[in-house]
Amino acid sequence: MTISTDVPALADLTTLRVGGPADAYVEASTEAELIDTIRAADDADQPLLVVGRGSNLLVSDEGFGGVVLRDVRKGIRLDEQDSCGGASVHVVGGQDWDELVVASVEAGWVGLEALSGIPGTVGAAPVQNIGAYGQEVSLAISNVRTWDRLLGRVRTFAVGELGLGYRTSLLKRTMRGAPTAADPQAPWYPTPRYVVLDVNLQMRLGTLSAPIAYGELASRLGVEVGDRAPQAEVRAAVLELRAGKGMLEDGRFGVATGTDHDRWSAGSFFTNPVVPADQAGLLPAEAPRYPVRSSRPETTTGPSLGVVDPSLVKTSAAWLIDHAGFGKGFGVAGPASAATLSTKHTLALTNRGGATADDVVTLARAVRDGVLDAFGVELEPEPVLVGVSL
Ligand code: EPU
Repeated sequence: MTISTDVPALADLTTLRVGGPADAYVEASTEAELIDTIRAADDADQPLLVVGRGSNLLVSDEGFGGVVLRDVRKGIRLDEQDSCGGASVHVVGGQDWDELVVASVEAGWVGLEALSGIPGTVGAAPVQNIGAYGQEVSLAISNVRTWDRLLGRVRTFAVGELGLGYRTSLLKRTMRGAPTAADPQAPWYPTPRYVVLDVNLQMRLGTLSAPIAYGELASRLGVEVGDRAPQAEVRAAVLELRAGKGMLEDGRFGVATGTDHDRWSAGSFFTNPVVPADQAGLLPAEAPRYPVRSSRPETTTGPSLGVVDPSLVKTSAAWLIDHAGFGKGFGVAGPASAATLSTKHTLALTNRGGATADDVVTLARAVRDGVLDAFGVELEPEPVLVGVSL
């Protein structure tokens, strides 16, 4: 275990590159070290922030008055593989996500290829049920082993118990706000009650991808939605699409080190709003409308897509932002102008160098308020906000 005396600022641990110092910083390289650190912080009533690659975090300029813990373990283990059951794969929480995707494409494990290039760790993946280009990690998870901070013991959740939905899970839902007089039972913040130790995945075998479920990806590949394509080609196409949107990992630990400030972001800053179908009917005809699907596959043998819920519609936060007058590169005039929307995609809030957390919050508020005024839809932030709120 490495306990640093030289505590890095959260700006050095997050892809947005904003955030002040932490009180303490620990790197855990074994499960025992991870659990011991969590236990010690909880026993001492010290706030705890478990970070992966820092790609979904916005931390205040005051920093974090507690322990920042990074799980630096690596490890992908194939437990079983046969043509009937597919591959059962065990991965530790600290493992880099994209390295897992590379391993799965090489090994012919189907179902992660469209999740190429997502910055972050395997441990963070089930917490917000990462998804992109028509796939979600929920479709590949069999169970998740966690450390339960309340009961002080290991607890394993089968996939059906994880409450996985669009960018959410039971794990994430335990991470409510700091305790207040009104809600004293909500102490698990900014780290959930259950900290992921490892994730077990179950994947089909094959050289072809799962059916392509995203129009933009299908056109890039020159296939129809619902077709399969060689996994390696799907990975390459997704990486190209992500790069074109500035949403590709750049540098060690996913922290942007280069000068492309479009990559100094936390990816999508808002989730795509899911609204009742009648409310979606009131949006302009050109606003994108996507089906809302369950996070579990419809069948175990057919296309890996969940059942559509006809009462709900998902629309596009990026489109609403763009059409509410906040185009690519938009910034609030004045002192907060070091934070702007990405010049490649309106859903990423970016740090143009020297932005503070307050600048990002000022921009996020302007965008959220403008979209609410224009379309009556309230955007919800996707990153975990630490010490700041909109
Ligand atoms: N659009 C604009 N202006 C822009 C960009 C996009 O109007 O500057 C509109 C277009 O109409 C476009 C639509 O927004 O068709 C959707 O854009 P895109 O296909 O890029 O996807 P998204 O909905 O913005 C979501 C995820 C991404 C994921 C992509 C691809 C969320 C919050 N975001 O973005 O995930 O990579 O789909 O599947 O669900 C992330 O979560 O951090 C993330 C990057």
